[in-house]
Amino acid sequence: MRLQNKVAIITGGANGIGRATAMTFAREGANVVIADMNEIAGEEVVTAITKTGRKANFERVNVADSGEVQRLVDNAVNNYGRLDILINNAGITNDARLVKMEIEQWQRVIDVNLKGVFLCSQAAARVMETQPTGGVILNAASIVALYGNFGQTNYAAAKAGVIGMTKTWARELGRKNIHVTAVAPGFIATDMIKTIPEKAIAIVREKTPLGRMGDPQDIANAYLFLASDEAKFVAGAVISVDGGLVL
Ligand code: NAI
Repeated sequence: MRLQNKVAIITGGANGIGRATAMTFAREGANVVIADMNEIAGEEVVTAITKTGRKANFERVNVADSGEVQRLVDNAVNNYGRLDILINNAGITNDARLVKMEIEQWQRVIDVNLKGVFLCSQAAARVMETQPTGGVILNAASIVALYGNFGQTNYAAAKAGVIGMTKTWARELGRKNIHVTAVAPGFIATDMIKTIPEKAIAIVREKTPLGRMGDPQDIANAYLFLASDEAKFVAGAVISVDGGLVL
């Protein structure tokens, strides 16, 4: 097992990519904290993990709230004794063309997708810095940060910011044995992209060299590699997992 007895916090772990990652990490021996706003779905993931023999618990957290984030990290350390892995996976969209975007739409997406990553990483890094074993911080970026996307000014700004923070933290935290990297998923079949019309999805499929949409497991596999000792010489990288859509 590649994550035997590691302790991982997965934000947005109740659904989609986060859920697939939580199940994958548990299968590889990790104990997992599901940090999400969706309590019902989150508790379902906890039940599924505990059936496999690993420990898991749900924390109701809004990643944009500094007090809730601090409580999340404190509870994880109190319950499991340390924190090895943080996956900043929680994310939302709230699309509109630039000229139509309300300031609230801008702010909501920046708060969750950018400020949330900052808050969680800061709280986690403060713990990881004190551990001789350091830790791993993995961030959900997006191909949208690399090539833009119609209607996603707020989302593209947040995800580009995540890439900038990833590289900054890799420089700041590397000597403390904290590994920081990001994954830039392409279009992955989860609730997040359900609002995209089938016609647009068909175009994406057509333009993707591998000829298909991504599956949450495709991203979970990348996180697994990056969280494992196999990636211990990887720092600050942004790994595209997009079927070759952006080359
Ligand atoms: P999803 O919508 O299936 O799941 C997101 C999870 O985050 C949900 O469980 C939701 O309750 C939780 N969440 C939302 N706001 C939260 C908050 N303020 N605090 C705590 N939890 C919160 O989304 P999906 O597709 O699994 O996306 C996961 C990550 O991957 C996101 O950061 C997303 O931007 C990124 N991504 C997804 C792509 C896709 O095509 N699905 C493509 C590129 C990036």
